[in-house]
This record gives sequence, C-alpha cells and structure tokens, in this order.
Amino acid sequence: MIDFHNHLMPGVDDGAADPAQALEGLGAMWADGVRTVVTTPHFRGSLTRNPEAFAARMAELDGAWSTLCALGAEHFPSLRLERGAEISLDAPELDLSDARVRLGGSPFALIEFQGFSIPPRAANAFFQLKRGGVVPILAHPERYPGMQGSADLVEEWRSVGCHLQVNAGSVLGRYGDSACQAAMGLLARGEVSFLCSDYHTRGRLWLRQARDRIAEMGGAEQAELLTVENPTRMLAGDPPLPVPPLRGKRGWWGKIFG
Ligand SMILES: [Fe+2]
Repeated sequence: MIDFHNHLMPGVDDGAADPAQALEGLGAMWADGVRTVVTTPHFRGSLTRNPEAFAARMAELDGAWSTLCALGAEHFPSLRLERGAEISLDAPELDLSDARVRLGGSPFALIEFQGFSIPPRAANAFFQLKRGGVVPILAHPERYPGMQGSADLVEEWRSVGCHLQVNAGSVLGRYGDSACQAAMGLLARGEVSFLCSDYHTRGRLWLRQARDRIAEMGGAEQAELLTVENPTRMLAGDPPLPVPPLRGKRGWWGKIFG
C-alpha cells in the first residue's frame, strides 16, 4: 500500500514529536503493509504568499525530512519515502509551485480546510489551483461537520477537478458516527479516490484494517484502487481511476446505518 497522508517528520507539527516517535511511525507503516510513505506535515497555505515565512518553514521541514530519511535508510531500507505537505486553505489563492509542498513532487497537492469549517469559496480555490497545473486532493472531507448533507458541495468540488481522500479511521468509526456515516456515504456514491491513514504516530494506523473492512463489504476492487492503484497513479502524475460505488453486503450496511 501507499500512504500519502501522515505526520512522521519529527518535531514540526502535531505528529511525531522527536526522532524516536518518527522511527516508531515508520515501523507502524511497515507493519501495516505500507511500502511507500509520502509524509505530509501541516503547512499553512498562506505562507506560500510570503517568501520569508515560506523559506523559514521550508528550512524547518527540510531538516526534519533529512532526519526521517536517515532513519528510514538505516532501519527500513526497503520503504520508499517521499515528502509532501497537508496544506491548509487559509488564503484564497495558493502558490504551490515549489515541488516540496506537493505530493512526491507530482502535480497533486493535499489540501485541508482550516479550523474544521468549510470555506464558502472552496470550489473557486480548487479551480484556481487546477488552472495553475496543481491537482487538489481534499483530505478527510468526511470529518467536516455538516458533510452528511453536503452532496451538492462534493459534486461542486469534484466538478472542478478536486479528488477526495478519506481517512482509514473514519471507515472504522474512529472519529465518531457522523464521520463514519459521511465516509460510507461518499464511498457508496463512488466519490472517494484515495484512502490514507492520517497517522500522527500515536495509536493504531488502521489502514490495513480499513482496507480489509471495505473488502469484506464486497469492495475488494475498491480497496485495491483506494490504497494501491490510485496512489500509484497519483505519484506517477496520472489521474485516479474511477472507484465504483461501494454497494456493501446487507449485514454491514445494517450495522453502519442501523
Ligand atoms: Fe493530517
């Protein structure tokens, strides 16, 4: 599997606090069956409009990235490591021309909304990114309050070329019932392109388990697309393949939707 949403760089955000935790995080990835990690520290998008602040944050991330690469090379030499960022949409127009803030140097960038609220002109921001040659991937849409009734918003974002990444823990109910139901609704409508861990080096990774859960629901093909095929295409600069709606077996849907 490929995981392109996680927080393993030591000491730069609310993920790994130090090299020891970063090493534990790499170990958890490997144990879960992840063979390519694109690590994505939190990054304020508005920094891309301020050259000095941008350079300072990148210097910090470059140092942590070197540390993580050294740990990986020593302890997990077969694990492929790439870098990216989880960019908060805290300014209307972002400049993502620096490859270090995109996913593995691809045209794709991982975007989150600030403060867990959906900005009114998100679709326009996605459209502007796409027009500049950057393909937005929205991180964990299911976790934003109100997403369950937002089919129109999702449709709007997708229509301007934004792809959706759901968190593994959401599929398993780790973020509560509403995030789980929103995630399952998105999967049932075939609107999700990627599944990632959003691992902060604490607790379980959940990626393997979520993948298995989707497969058990009759979605073996979807599980493979979400965790292997589409992330592989993304890193190669190719658009994700459509993921068929997850129909689910009656028992599972009964458990989830009561
Ligand atoms: Fe994250």
